[in-house]
This record gives sequence, C-alpha cells and structure tokens, in this order.
Amino acid sequence: MNTVIEGFSKLTKEEKIDWLTKNYTKNPESSKKVLKQYWNTESKIQKLHDEFIENTITNYYLPFGIAPNFLINGRLYAIPMAIEESSVVAAASKAAKFWLEKGGFKAQVLGMEKIGQVHFIYKGNRQNLEKYFEYVKPKLISAAKPITQNMERRGGGISNIELKDKTEVLENYYQLHCTFETLDAMGANFINSCLEEFAKVLKVEAQTFPSFAENEREIDVVMSILSNYVPDCLVRVEVNCPIDQLETEEFVTPYEFAKKMVQAVEIAKIEPYRAVTHNKGIMNGVDAVVLATGNDFRAVEAGVHAYAGKDGQYSGLTRAAIEKGIFKFWMEIPLALGTVGGLTNLHPLVKLSLEILQNPTAKELMQIVAVAGLAQNFAALRSLVTTGIQQGHMKMHLMNILNQMGATEEDKKVLAGYFKTRTVTHSTVKEALEQLRK
Ligand code: MEV
Repeated sequence: MNTVIEGFSKLTKEEKIDWLTKNYTKNPESSKKVLKQYWNTESKIQKLHDEFIENTITNYYLPFGIAPNFLINGRLYAIPMAIEESSVVAAASKAAKFWLEKGGFKAQVLGMEKIGQVHFIYKGNRQNLEKYFEYVKPKLISAAKPITQNMERRGGGISNIELKDKTEVLENYYQLHCTFETLDAMGANFINSCLEEFAKVLKVEAQTFPSFAENEREIDVVMSILSNYVPDCLVRVEVNCPIDQLETEEFVTPYEFAKKMVQAVEIAKIEPYRAVTHNKGIMNGVDAVVLATGNDFRAVEAGVHAYAGKDGQYSGLTRAAIEKGIFKFWMEIPLALGTVGGLTNLHPLVKLSLEILQNPTAKELMQIVAVAGLAQNFAALRSLVTTGIQQGHMKMHLMNILNQMGATEEDKKVLAGYFKTRTVTHSTVKEALEQLRK
C-alpha cells in the first residue's frame, strides 16, 4: 500500500492501472473494472483523450445537456452545457423561455484586451531603466515577430508594452505589462511565447546598453506569464421588460416580484457571504458552457472572481433596477475565451458544441457564455425569492434516490406525486418505496 514509484509515466496504461489498483485500492479487480468501463475502445476517441493529458488511465464523463430557446441579440441558440449538477440545465432552459417571450437577451462585448507580464528585479537607477525601456521596446516587438506575424495578418498582435515600477510595494520589483489582441483565440500560448521572448531580449540587451552602469546590467527575470485577470476583456448582458410582464404564480403582483429580485441583487452586492453563493450560481451557467466549448474554466473562474472583488470588497456580479415601470437585470463579466486553437479543433464534442452554437467568433461566444450566467442567476433568484431552492432540488434528489433503489418508471411517477407535500430524505423515500411495493 501507498508506495513510491519511479518512472510511472513510462508504464503502459495497463501497467499503470495494475500498479495503481494493487497499491491504492482494496479490491484491484473490481477497481480495474470501474476504470475500464469508461474506456472507449470502438473509436479513435480513446487515443485522442489519452493524449490530452499525462498518465491517462480512463475517462471522466460529465453529462452534456442542452438548454434551448435562448434568444440573444435576435438570434436563437440551443446552448450546450457540460455539468454534473442537477437543476442547472433545467433552470437555464426555464429562464431562456421566460425571456424569449420578452425580447430575449441583449449582449455586447465591451473589450477584448488580454494581458501578460514579465516580472523582474532591477537594482539600478529608475531613470536609467526608463531610458533602457524606450531603447529596448522596439527590439522586444521585432524579436517576437516570428510569433506575432500570423496573428498580425489577421488583425491582432501585441497592442502595447509598458514598464511598471512596483518598487513601492516590493523592493526592486518592476514589470513589463503587456496587452494583446488575440482575436478568436484565447491566446494563452501566443501570449506566453511573446512574453518569454520579451524576457530573453530584456536580459540580453541590458548587457550592452550604453547608459547602464556596470552594476545596472543585471536584469533578473523572475517569471513571464499571462494574467487571467482580464478586466478589459469584458462582456455586458441584459434582459429587461415592462414590470407587468413579470407575471408569476407565486406573487400577487409583478411589482412585488420585481422588488424582491432587486432586493436579492442588492444584498449580494453588499454582503460577501451572499455574493459568493450568488456568483457561484452565475458560474453554474458560465462554466458549463465554457467546458462544453473546450475553454479553460479555471482561468475564467479566477478572472471572474477577481473582477467581483475589484472595488475592494467581493460583490455580486449582477445588477437589477426598476426604472419607469421597466425591470432591468444585467451583468458585466470578463471572459477570455477562444473558438479556435486549443481543444476546439481536437475534441469532437467541443467541435460539435461550437457547431450547435453556429460556429461563433470569440466575441459571440463571450456573449453566449455571459447570457448563460445571467439566465442562471435569474432562475436561481427567482426560485430563492419565491418557492425556495429546495423544491426543485428535492425533486431531482428524489429521482436520484429512487434510481439508486432500482425504482421502476411507474414507482417514480407515483412517488413524485406522494412527495410533492412531504420531505425527501433517504429513509422516507425507502419507506415509501417499500410501502408501495407491498
Ligand atoms: C446552487 O448551485 C446555486 C445557488 O445556490 C445560487 C444562488 O444561491 O444564487 C442556487
């Protein structure tokens, strides 16, 4: 048990599984079965997946669902979502339908700027460094030409390079703060390659820069990496309608409903404990589409949450208002997404997701993803301020328990009715099922 191994990566897949199950599982034979039941042996898919990461031993499936009826800027979409959490796709679909009849979602990309930084230590005179920066900047850009020329041909590339003095917050610390336009690519590889080239040139050219004193030639690059904080790669999405169209079963007047929604949004704006959960609900929609379209959800998560804290306190990301009889609900979020490069051309399901979304540009995908987030938040708040979130969840929970217990379709139908007015727990469901079978 729990042994160290050298050269694990060099073992074959079978050997890796043998070693793993023998050393880390109680019942190696049944563990092997679990792993292998997810293999896809009938197509080339398995080899493809094996090569996405290192030490692959099997696949980890997530459900892939569709939320139809999204009207975005006058165009209809059926949105693919990869997510394991029940109720999310249903909530998205419900919100889509609700807004479909009220003009749909309006979305607008406010900026596409990507960011990367070369972090370095310099112990010399600041003015000399500034002079050096002016001297070296064109050399940085021309050294990166082999990397940037294709992107430039399509209208993208390096937008700017700035020298930033951070010595007030960290001794001798400076940055090259660089901005990029990466068009339909998320651009991580492009940006990191450019930055590493900048870092090389920055160090080398310092050796011969005439205005540097001997002790100023040492530029100590700590690291070169893109930033996942992209506050100017921003999309705005909105829904609005006259208040009297906000008819719901649960409220006496549409105005009461609108007011409750605004209150819920205001609470998330000023109360971090609520804001985190509020935003988690937004990310239910965002991540599911980001994942289905082969984008990096960790990058998106990190960037969105940083944006939620940009004013010094973590805050809810959506806004709501009632103005002159109109209910407005909107959000601005940063999203660095790609529809070319990365997995987009490699992963057949990602490719299909993009086709389902009518092969969007990165800008269009930003709009679709943000809409999924806004819809999700609308649906969550609507449940929270009316029936409470558990009603929907419990229905799914009940089905999960019944499935585990091997209930038939007929059992499920009867018990769904029975539990409409009763509390769902494992034991109450078990008892009810036993009772039904008697
Ligand atoms: C659950 O995944 C998401 C919610 O908690 C979001 C929210 O509270 O707004 C329902």
